[in-house]
Amino acid sequence: MKPVHVGLIGCGTVGTGVARLLIEHGHMIEQRTGVPIVLKYVADLDKDRDRGLHFAPGVFVDDAWQIINDPQVDIVIEMIGGVTLAKELIASAIRKGKHVVTANKALLATQGNDLFRQAATAGVDLAFEASVGGCMPVIKSLRESLVGNQIQSMVGILNGTCNYILSKITEEGLPFATALSEAQVQGYAEADPTLDIEGLDAAHKLAILTALAYGMHINFEEIYIEGISAITPLDIQFAHDFGYCIKLLAISKNRGNAIEARVHPAMVPLDNILSNVSGSLNAITISGHAVQDLFLSGYGAGMMPTASAVISDIADIARNMRFGAPGRVPAMAYQPDQIRPIPVMPVTDIVTHYYIRFAVQDRPGVLAAIAGILGDNDISIKSVQQKGRKSNGHVPIVMLTHHAREADVRKALTEIGRLDTVGPAPVLIRIEDDIQED
Ligand code: HSE
Repeated sequence: MKPVHVGLIGCGTVGTGVARLLIEHGHMIEQRTGVPIVLKYVADLDKDRDRGLHFAPGVFVDDAWQIINDPQVDIVIEMIGGVTLAKELIASAIRKGKHVVTANKALLATQGNDLFRQAATAGVDLAFEASVGGCMPVIKSLRESLVGNQIQSMVGILNGTCNYILSKITEEGLPFATALSEAQVQGYAEADPTLDIEGLDAAHKLAILTALAYGMHINFEEIYIEGISAITPLDIQFAHDFGYCIKLLAISKNRGNAIEARVHPAMVPLDNILSNVSGSLNAITISGHAVQDLFLSGYGAGMMPTASAVISDIADIARNMRFGAPGRVPAMAYQPDQIRPIPVMPVTDIVTHYYIRFAVQDRPGVLAAIAGILGDNDISIKSVQQKGRKSNGHVPIVMLTHHAREADVRKALTEIGRLDTVGPAPVLIRIEDDIQED
């Protein structure tokens, strides 16, 4: 069988894992694909780093364009991250008729529509399993396994760094900064960890999954995003008292003519399977009309788990090449001419349960005033708790609401904020009670 030649651009954490699997497990992969896969080049500017791998002479180069310009290279693996140069390299590879594998969710979320169009026109595969959920086969599940399903919703933990931080604060009481440094040392975090902490990385991933699930263009700009930096140990403790934990969730729901797509910290019932997903693990519950609920979990970051997903893309492309069938499975799950614009609902239109923590003066009538404003705005209270010590003259009051419209909640909070007896900036955390039966 004619070998398939791959060129790897970027030999950092994940790139090194990919090279390792190809070098150390190439035979096993060939036994499965029926195609010898040859790592022809590895390009990286850092030649000196000890990666624990031995490359044959001529394999390691410092010029990525050498890979793009070599006609013998069949598949380019883009592992450099970032947007501008990565897009240039991928677009050039596509123009030269090469297949591409990437894990670059920031690039796909923001420029993917254009790149997928280019790949379809050129008749090449653009594969991206490692862009979402590390080793979890979530792209393949949406693209292939769930082809007979109308997807109804997806609720996922898609950022290992945030999940690691929230787990460490919850389980070990670690301060936020210490938990973040540990996540960085483990190699989970992005080069700029604000992408993780502020929810952008999870939103990039959600944008990709949402487009795949519903047959729509990638629409990252419309996703509502809130990160975890405002989550306090006090809220984690209250959540626990009410029977919840706090997770950064990526949520996408099919609402008929529109889609809900949002990333924010959310309270998850302790008896829901997602609450047991700790540390850098990722997970997702996908609900489809036929399958009902499908749960996937696995390491969402790190060298070998992410490399495993990259290899699955390389194997798919090698198999397509073997049978002369590039594009056999459309990159974005739907045939390119079937992809439609579907609007994303403004977050103010969502209806869910809420946790609201106020800092109030401990005086008669305060609770009644708050409850009155909530009632006037059509918000019904499910439970209330006042607990804890006074700080800065205030005590915390926590309320859980029944289903309420976000626009009404925000209006009520503005009105409550004007009361003299209530401190500034109430904390609002959405509750995902109905993950599996929505
Ligand atoms: N920074 C990402 C995370 C890495 O923490 O999940 C994988 O995309």
